[in-house]
This record gives sequence, structure tokens and C-alpha cells, in this order.
Amino acid sequence: MPALPPRTTDPPWRTAWDRALYGPQGFYRHAAPGDHFRTAVHGSDLLARALLTMARGCGLDTVVDVGAGRGELLAALHLLAPDLRLVAVEVADRPDGLPEQIRWTAALPARVDGLVVAHEWLDNIPCHVVEVDTAGAVRVVHVDPATGLESLGHPVDGPGVPPSLATWLDRWWPLDGTDPGTRAEVGTSRDRALGDLVARVGRGVVVAVDYGHTRAARPAGGSLRSYQRGRQVPVLPDGSRDVTADVALDAAAAAAGARVLTQRDALQVLGVTSARPPVERAGSDPRSYVAGLSSAGRAAELSAPEGFGEFTWLVSAVGGVAAPLG
Ligand SMILES: C[S@@+](CC[C@H](N)C(=O)[O-])C[C@H]1O[C@@H](n2cnc3c(N)ncnc32)[C@H](O)[C@@H]1O
Repeated sequence: MPALPPRTTDPPWRTAWDRALYGPQGFYRHAAPGDHFRTAVHGSDLLARALLTMARGCGLDTVVDVGAGRGELLAALHLLAPDLRLVAVEVADRPDGLPEQIRWTAALPARVDGLVVAHEWLDNIPCHVVEVDTAGAVRVVHVDPATGLESLGHPVDGPGVPPSLATWLDRWWPLDGTDPGTRAEVGTSRDRALGDLVARVGRGVVVAVDYGHTRAARPAGGSLRSYQRGRQVPVLPDGSRDVTADVALDAAAAAAGARVLTQRDALQVLGVTSARPPVERAGSDPRSYVAGLSSAGRAAELSAPEGFGEFTWLVSAVGGVAAPLG
């Protein structure tokens, strides 16, 4: 059967999404992530402590934070360990007030020896969105960036569509026999980005932390969504809001040769515990007791089931380094 022509001049989701976040007026050119949603790097230094344990355990003295936001994680690391070499890779400009020892760049280093962290980075890498049409064909979804109105373009096995999309879907997110309207976000761009990050490391560890799913439980309607000022809002690639989609974690792990752990398990191994301080300390050292309680509360939040604890760590060790994860 001849391929259906695309019915639209609107860009595919991947293009619209990329412009919406990283174009000249893109969301992340002006927005601080922490003004719009809360991640595990906000509110305490516990993630920094865990990653410091990882860096020290691997004998690494450099930490590169890819998609560094406003540098929160590196600022916390700098306070804990001023001897570390710290590099932020971020499309946004360097924020005011960051310690001058933290290097800030928009470009990934060509080669790194060190711990490379990509915290909630993969979910913001734009990818193609596909949908099953009424005839059962899987087609690329296009979107009007101003209105969010969608239309269907070429079938994924048609002309003008990279064959890698159909290959990826077959392996990681098969849509054969699914109902019209079933959707998927195609993880090729994320897999490539993480594989590329790992390939830049000579000796070190890459830790990508994100939310997502595996082949056993893909979301049938996809997971594309937007956040703005702390709330989930209608998804729209117009630069006014974040656009994110859950990561196909198994595919990304395969691309990066990564070990897969829940955040809960990773934090436990790295010594972040939600154990409360002994109550006798309240009398002998009240200040330390209160600090211990607060830290235990935050650790519990970072390890919570159905919350940050379910985030996944993809850990790729390179160049003979052994990540201290048990
Ligand atoms: C969801 S925010 C996460 C920020 C921070 N890591 C955190 O967890 O709070 C994603 C960040 O990645 C940045 N980013 C995405 N792709 C990037 C790229 N290719 N190079 C540099 N920064 C990038 C965005 O600008 C944004 O600040």
C-alpha cells in the first residue's frame, strides 16, 4: 500500500518540543527548573552526599552535572567537598552567586574522567511521538506549537521517517495489535544521548537518574505532559512550560550498558538513611537532634515508594572503575 502523505505542515512533536525547550525563546533558556517543579536536588544536600560517597568510593575527583539547572547539586557538593573539580553543563546562562570554583559550560566535554551525573535530564530530551491510527498504522504525531492541536503524519515505516524509529518500537515498545489512539514516545534520541555521554568518559561513572517505565508496563496513552509553576498543566510546546515524558528506562540502560537500581536502593547503599536520631540526643544535643530529624525526613522523601524512591538510577561504570553499589 502506498504511504499516506502527511496531512500537516506542523512540525513533528520532536521538533516542536526541542524548539519549545531549547530554541532561542525556549523554556529552559529563561526558566529555573526549581521555580516550576521540585526535584531531588532541591531542599537538602542528601543527594549530593550520596554522590560524594560514590565519587570518593570510585577515587574520582571530578563531577560533571549534565542539565545542571541552576547548579543546586554542584553548589551542595562544593560545600561538602571543596577539593572536587565541578563542571555544570547547562543550556541556561550561569546563575548569579554560584561559587566561582564551579565551571559552567553549555557544551558537553569531549572527554571526562570523573563522575558524570544527569539528574532528570533524559526526560527532557525531546523524542518522536507516534500514534496508532484507525487503520492500525503507527504514525508520527505532529503538533501546532501555538495551540497544541495534533495531526498524524507519515507511518513510521514510510518514506521520510528514519528506519530507527520502527526498529526501536519493535524492540522496546511494540504497538502491533493495539487500539487506535494508543501512543508511544520513541526513545531513540534519549538512548543516543545517554550512549554518547558514556562514550565521552575515559575513566569514571555515569549516573542518570530519572522516572520512567520498562517494557512490562508502558503507558498506553504515552506520558507526554507539561509543568508550570508547580502544577501539571495542559501539554503545549510553546516555550511557556516544561515538556517532559517518562523515559523508557530499559532501552536507555541497554544503550548505556548501565546497571539499574531504584533510588531507594542506591541511597541506602550510599549511606543515606531515614533512621531517626536516638531520642536521648534531644536532651543532650538538641540542635543536632533537630538536624538529624530533618535529614531523616528528607531521606524518607527521597526514598518514598510511589515518589522519589521509585526513580531509577542508570549507572554505567567505565574504564575499570567499580561503582560502590554492593
Ligand atoms: C528537569 S531540569 C533538571 C535540572 C536539575 N538537574 C535537577 O534535577 O533539578 C533539566 C535541565 O537540563 C537542561 N538540559 C537539557 N538538555 C541539555 C543539554 N543538551 N545541554 C545542557 N543542558 C541541558 C535544561 O536546560 C534543564 O535545566
